[in-house]
Amino acid sequence: MADNAGAQGGGFVGYHKAVERSEDAEARRVARGTAGGEYMRRFWHPIALSGQVRTLPKRVRILGEDLVVFRDLGGRLGCLHLHCSHRGTSLEFGVLTERGISCCYHGWRYDIDGTILDTPGEPAGSTIKVRVCHGAYPVREHGGLIFGYFGAPEAMPPFFLTDATVVPGNELHPYLLTFDCNWLQAHENSMDPIHSVFLHTRVSNVQFSQSFGALPVVRYRQTELGVISTAVRRIGENVWVRVNDDLTPNVAQFGPPWEDGSQEKLFVPPAITRWITPIDDTHCMTIGWRHCNPIVDPQRRIRTAEIGLETVDFFGQTPHRPYEDRQREPGDWDAQVSQRPMSIHALENLGTTDMGIAMLRKNIQQGVLAVKEGTGLKPLPLRDGVLSTYAHDTVLRLPQKTNDDTAVLAEVGDTVTGITLDSWSAPHGERRQYCIARLRESGLC
Ligand code: FES
Ligand SMILES: [Fe+2]
Repeated sequence: MADNAGAQGGGFVGYHKAVERSEDAEARRVARGTAGGEYMRRFWHPIALSGQVRTLPKRVRILGEDLVVFRDLGGRLGCLHLHCSHRGTSLEFGVLTERGISCCYHGWRYDIDGTILDTPGEPAGSTIKVRVCHGAYPVREHGGLIFGYFGAPEAMPPFFLTDATVVPGNELHPYLLTFDCNWLQAHENSMDPIHSVFLHTRVSNVQFSQSFGALPVVRYRQTELGVISTAVRRIGENVWVRVNDDLTPNVAQFGPPWEDGSQEKLFVPPAITRWITPIDDTHCMTIGWRHCNPIVDPQRRIRTAEIGLETVDFFGQTPHRPYEDRQREPGDWDAQVSQRPMSIHALENLGTTDMGIAMLRKNIQQGVLAVKEGTGLKPLPLRDGVLSTYAHDTVLRLPQKTNDDTAVLAEVGDTVTGITLDSWSAPHGERRQYCIARLRESGLC
């Protein structure tokens, strides 16, 4: 039975709707041995805030695996399989030592690489500790986030930062928000600028700024890093161009939620770099940084006290409001999580405005297939460990000349985005000036 049965012939088609047919769900599953899980194990992912791993071990679940993250008394970070290799007691109850962590039950002590250092109850000649190695993963720390790599050691990619992270004078404010849904539907929100018009502005209240309510002209482009969306809005005498990054598979960058397009600005870097780290098939975390630097936030509108564990300084990113309030004024968390624990692509009806989401999904499908077939993934084009990206906000004073200036907005968006793409190989420190000079040459400012 076709999913659109009855579309031409009246309503009441409930019975005839397709039941779940998740042909592509395998790509979104995250356990070891699944196609999606093996793919996602080819990337570094942030897994916890540094502040969660101080004087006690921290139990986490990442990509469906139960793990413990800890900092030993020597200050080294470790990430081990949660259950002790002896008889399975959870290492969340372990004791931190100068070197490694000891299981509380019989004292087996593990180094950060999983080497068993002691089995104190065993006789002196016991060889268990050389015969057994506990499961461990490499971790590293940057800007208040702990990152882990969960794939085969021989396939480990280099760790990277984006250029937005290393803007001069930048402060990194880490945050972590748990979402009760599959990771992909949380991530694909980054390529859906149209939801800002409705969810964040017109449907209930103005959640960010009134300007998000202007229906933008949207363009999507495939890049070597993923997809970028360009949303261009007419705001009075100004034109506001917002470019968002999707970095395949699960990183996104975008500008501040308070932007309203009222002040001229050129190539202002993003206010947020965030990953969507899978916890398991139906839970994930939004984890990343709010950026604060003199270019993106000259008036220091950031509210640092609201940024951290299960909190961030913009509306609707958690379920921590009364249910009725969330029904009356739903936010991102409510819209994304309520797409079901794992959205069912076979039951969707994608429209023109979902083109970016279709592109993003295709990139992931191709990556999943490449890992499955052993052809491998293309390495990221890093320079000194830093990735040049595209997200920015530009606001130009360009008074409207005709009643419908949709074509003008599209052209401005294309010009601005084209310059951003052309500038990609300029040195990180010079790229913004290059873009501004090119924009001046174009006569748009
Ligand atoms: S269960 Fe951990 S040492 Fe025995
Ligand atoms: Fe949103």
